[in-house]
Amino acid sequence: MPKSATQTRTIALLAAVTVLLAGLTLAARRRTSDQIVLKLAHGLDNTHPVHISMEFMAKRAGEKSAGAMRIEIFPSEQLGAERECIEQVQLGSLDMTKASSAAVEQFIPEMGVFSLPYLFRDEEHYWSILNGPVGQEILEAGRPVGLHGLCYFDAGARSFYTKQRPISQPTDLRGQKIRVQQSRTAMAMIEALGGAPTPIPFGELYTALQQGVVDGAENNPPSFLSSRHYEVCKYYALDEHANVPDVLLISEAVWRDLPAEAQGWLSEAAAEAAAFQRKLWAEKTNEAIEELKKAGVEVSRPDKKPFAEAVAPMLKTQSNRAVERLVEKILAP
Ligand code: GCU
Repeated sequence: MPKSATQTRTIALLAAVTVLLAGLTLAARRRTSDQIVLKLAHGLDNTHPVHISMEFMAKRAGEKSAGAMRIEIFPSEQLGAERECIEQVQLGSLDMTKASSAAVEQFIPEMGVFSLPYLFRDEEHYWSILNGPVGQEILEAGRPVGLHGLCYFDAGARSFYTKQRPISQPTDLRGQKIRVQQSRTAMAMIEALGGAPTPIPFGELYTALQQGVVDGAENNPPSFLSSRHYEVCKYYALDEHANVPDVLLISEAVWRDLPAEAQGWLSEAAAEAAAFQRKLWAEKTNEAIEELKKAGVEVSRPDKKPFAEAVAPMLKTQSNRAVERLVEKILAP
């Protein structure tokens, strides 16, 4: 239903008041305590390597600040699914979140570039982009909308897992309902492969798979394992269609409210956690594949070429000019 001008003004006023109140609460909170407490919420399980690395970050921030900074972590969607957490961070009612860059795409279109399939030549290319000026530019692109990117965490490559039959080639996806993250790019990819994309929050996916709302999904090995989706999906095809990193975000309002020294502790602890996580990730990915096999999952390595060919047009035409520019930079020789 179209909103009247008065309704629109009232909504805008309420939003402004909410942001103002969030800001005041923040300032008050920091004044009343000597300790800076930052709440960080995310959707992964506490056995997941990304969670373990954020615990490491919290420990390092505590050490660097001699106890003056404390990061409290709430895993497993305790404070909401990824989208809700990002919205709370935007408002400043939650300090920090870790989300998949695919989920952040709705807020920061530039993040969508990572959901483009088969974009990177190899791991080295991927990390040189993430750790270089392009990666930094994408992390900073959220500041005008209240989201301050601190670092990336490795989330490996995403691959398909299904209930009924293995995916050996793109035609096997025809007519299959595949859960995707809330990302337009991820939806477009499944469509290009002939499947039916269905966006569902991560925490609701186990039941959706069980009840047949979807026939399959896609994720990296540690997330497939820790979510226990393998109890329902016994086929895992490592087509490794996209490298979609996780991103650590702090509210821009919270960030600006931190003294420069505290910004330093946090930035350093985040950078150390990202380096720690990258090593842990490689180890945990291999372990996860072995665990999945032990649990009776049929793990296959299909030829990636037909998948890459089916989605190749996605790299050529972008609806968003900012993403188009990033693709040009990433693909530059
Ligand atoms: C990965 C990612 C999560 C995300 C999940 C998903 O596991 O690390 O942040 O929620 O994918 O598919 O939704």
